[in-house]
Amino acid sequence: MGGTNILIIGSGGREHAIAWKLKQSKKVSKLFCIPGNGGILQDTARADGGKIDILDFDGIYGFVKENKIDLTIVGPELPLSEGIVDYFKTKNLKIFGPDRRSAQLESSKIFAKEFMEKYNIPTAAFEVFDNYDLAVKHIEHYTSHIARSLVVKADGLAAGKGVFVCDSKEDAEDAVKKIMVDKIFSSAGKRVIIEEKLTGQEASLMALCDGKTILPLVPSQDHKRIFDGDRGPNTGGMGAYAPAKILDEASAKKLIFDNFLRGLKEESLDFKGVIYAGIMLTNHGISVLEFNVRFGDPETQVILPLLKTDLLELILATVDGNLNKCKISWEDGSCVSVVLASGGYPGKYDKGKEIFGLNNIGDAVAFHAGTKFEDNKYLTSGGRVLNVSAIDSTLKGAISKVYKNVEKIKFDGMHFRRDIAAKGL
Ligand code: AMP
Ligand code: GLY
Repeated sequence: MGGTNILIIGSGGREHAIAWKLKQSKKVSKLFCIPGNGGILQDTARADGGKIDILDFDGIYGFVKENKIDLTIVGPELPLSEGIVDYFKTKNLKIFGPDRRSAQLESSKIFAKEFMEKYNIPTAAFEVFDNYDLAVKHIEHYTSHIARSLVVKADGLAAGKGVFVCDSKEDAEDAVKKIMVDKIFSSAGKRVIIEEKLTGQEASLMALCDGKTILPLVPSQDHKRIFDGDRGPNTGGMGAYAPAKILDEASAKKLIFDNFLRGLKEESLDFKGVIYAGIMLTNHGISVLEFNVRFGDPETQVILPLLKTDLLELILATVDGNLNKCKISWEDGSCVSVVLASGGYPGKYDKGKEIFGLNNIGDAVAFHAGTKFEDNKYLTSGGRVLNVSAIDSTLKGAISKVYKNVEKIKFDGMHFRRDIAAKGL
């Protein structure tokens, strides 16, 4: 019997890490990626799919038929929330990811909060508003009687920009105005959540879920701010490490995932994919800030290098509902990934800069995020350009290995954080 032909949807470091891991499986035959990026298309997967949009389901279906794809793996949230899994099911095709109803756990923050409340998953206290005046009234009451700080969130997908952590009444009113009156996120801001502001360190815990069984992956920590010491504006993530020992996995599994599974069953949600819990470790215990319904980015770039079990086996077991028969084994050490960003990022940034030194990478791997390959050269094409990941038997060793390799790479304007994983030491 031949191997499995796989299509990966997406174009970031996460998708490169998935492709890189799958390439190590003897059971994988051909790998394709839509739309991919310079690195993915050069050294891992092939596709002329670059011209197909990730929301063009008919176009993707045509590609799947033409290339005899056996399994499609969805990286980003947008196609999931637009129902790519439901579409594939009508065509009797195998696809890894939750259907549109389940994807609401990420595409509607209100859906997620109400789910958490109903099934006793710890989360910050919240109120929902679809009326601007009532939201403003609530902010006045909250800031004068309960606490000065609060968090305002647009309900729908806003490319990670829909959350406003506010330290005054004015900030909060301004956030609600931007979302509901100025409509900066258009219909994603029809409703807002106003919630309690929590404090503490953050951690990420992902799990594979086939609807009946949940298998947690190792916990990790992302670094969202642009500058060392967690200062400056938020980004898509500047680096990560795993395992994050700060999280008590057993209690997180019990409080979050056991209740999650109960909720799926009661709501008849067909969830086959990755559930990602963004967690805050408060003085009163863990609290879930958000769910994502897919692999995290850049967390995947530190988790998959530590995975010993065949990734294809795990993904097929998830899609086929056989996760109860699986066990996951991990390397003993730690993995650290540092994001190399373009000059100007997270604001307006340059593109088209030549990247040097990729051939000098030794005991690390450079996952491509925002690159393209042209005239035999790699050029920058996004804000986050590369994710350099290294593993070692100790976290300290992984940090020094990863930075030794980062130093070998250069492009005009390149910048990165120098303290990734230091909080894990
Ligand atoms: P979310 O997309 O809901 O994870 O929010 C993005 C970021 O906003 C989180 O990673 C936190 O840093 C912050 N955040 C979200 N909710 C809260 C909260 N209730 N209290 C404090 N910070 C929060
Ligand atoms: N690292 C956060 C995310 O993937 O959304």
